[in-house]
Amino acid sequence: MAATDLERISNVEPESRSLSLGGHVGFDSLPDQLVSKSVTQGFSFNILCVGETGIGKSTLMNTLFNTTFETEEASHHEECVRLRPQTYDLQESNVHLKLTIVDAVGFGDQINKDDRPIVDYIDAQFENYLQEELKIRRSLFDYHDTRIHVCLYFITPTGHSLKSLDLVTMKKLDSKVNIIPIIAKADTISKSELHKFKIKIMGELVSNGVQIYQFPTDDEAVAEINAVMNAHLPFAVVGSTEEVKVGNKLVRARQYPWGVVQVENENHCDFVKLREMLIRVNMEDLREQTHSRHYELYRRCKLEEMGFQDSDGDSQPFSLQETYEAKRKEFLSELQRKEEEMRQMFVNKVKETELELKEKERELHEKFEHLKRIHQEEKRKVEEKRRELEEETKAFNCRKAAMEALQSQAMHATSQQPLRKDKDKKN
Ligand code: GTP
Ligand code: MG
Repeated sequence: MAATDLERISNVEPESRSLSLGGHVGFDSLPDQLVSKSVTQGFSFNILCVGETGIGKSTLMNTLFNTTFETEEASHHEECVRLRPQTYDLQESNVHLKLTIVDAVGFGDQINKDDRPIVDYIDAQFENYLQEELKIRRSLFDYHDTRIHVCLYFITPTGHSLKSLDLVTMKKLDSKVNIIPIIAKADTISKSELHKFKIKIMGELVSNGVQIYQFPTDDEAVAEINAVMNAHLPFAVVGSTEEVKVGNKLVRARQYPWGVVQVENENHCDFVKLREMLIRVNMEDLREQTHSRHYELYRRCKLEEMGFQDSDGDSQPFSLQETYEAKRKEFLSELQRKEEEMRQMFVNKVKETELELKEKERELHEKFEHLKRIHQEEKRKVEEKRRELEEETKAFNCRKAAMEALQSQAMHATSQQPLRKDKDKKN
């Protein structure tokens, strides 16, 4: 069968028809199968807490999960913002939850402490997941998913307005994570001020284009409650691990000289609303949104950065394989070009060195010739000196011989003289 026929067949959408069944088949157990599978597998849920040091992050986490997580207080003298993840295995009934709480330690302490480490941390978790997905042998089934499912952004209860750091940070995070803003330590602000503060915060978030997480209203079962809760954002919460006796019941509360603030009393704060929305109603939606919205965006940008696309310029669909082939060809031709460039560079270098060596040889030769000439000149001078000396020696010897001859003549003459005197006397 020709390739085009195959393509045509694989692209044909199967026609769907409604049929009524004659009796019970059993696929109505699919939801139960899903539940049982999920329960065995367990769940992971990762919360990022962003808020200034001492705002009440650890206390709220302890209050939310009704336990005491081991946490150490952050110092106000951290050099930069540091992300501290801690993972706990929790169990309620037969459901296992791998909970990771990530603290942005040192955030908001000093003016120069930026949100870069937070963004980098979120991206790093996406990257780990993407790398696992791209592996030939993936093990996503038992992969510990560390992607952040929700960012609880703790707002200081000033009663004024949001700090610019809050707006800037939330703006940077809103495309990467589900943000739920909360007003921390809400017991330190009066009821009327709190109402105005909430309206102001929402107004500022909207005017600055910050997208916070909206509880979904598309599922009928939870649409109503979620719509009501969306109107209550940002939740004003109080945290406490202290138990106080109210009536004849022990409740978690903060006790003051003038009264008791009950954490789980909806007239006192929105803690119950937060717990309902975060854990009981929308935990799965937060996980789902993280995967289908935020991770999808990261994955798309990352793959596009790597040169992968779903369609070419004319909107023709591109398969991953085609893109890979094109990239491979591009890479190989680039490699070839680089190789040729390197070879050319090498040849040029060799030529250059050869020329340099030739020049050096010529210089050496010239030097040699020069020295040779000097040597010959010296030799000639020495020869001349030697000849002169020989001539002088010869002349000296001649003079010496003449002197000797004269001397012997003189001696001879003096020896003849007394004989003549004697002769004269006799005469
Ligand atoms: P670091 O981790 O050190 O940044 O602090 P944190 O944000 O975890 O704050 P933590 O929970 O340690 O609380 C700091 C202080 O605030 C403690 O004394 C808490 O008792 C107090 N605190 C916590 N929650 C509340 C609250 O809702 N209202 C009031 N008034 N105080 C609170
Ligand atoms: Mg803490």
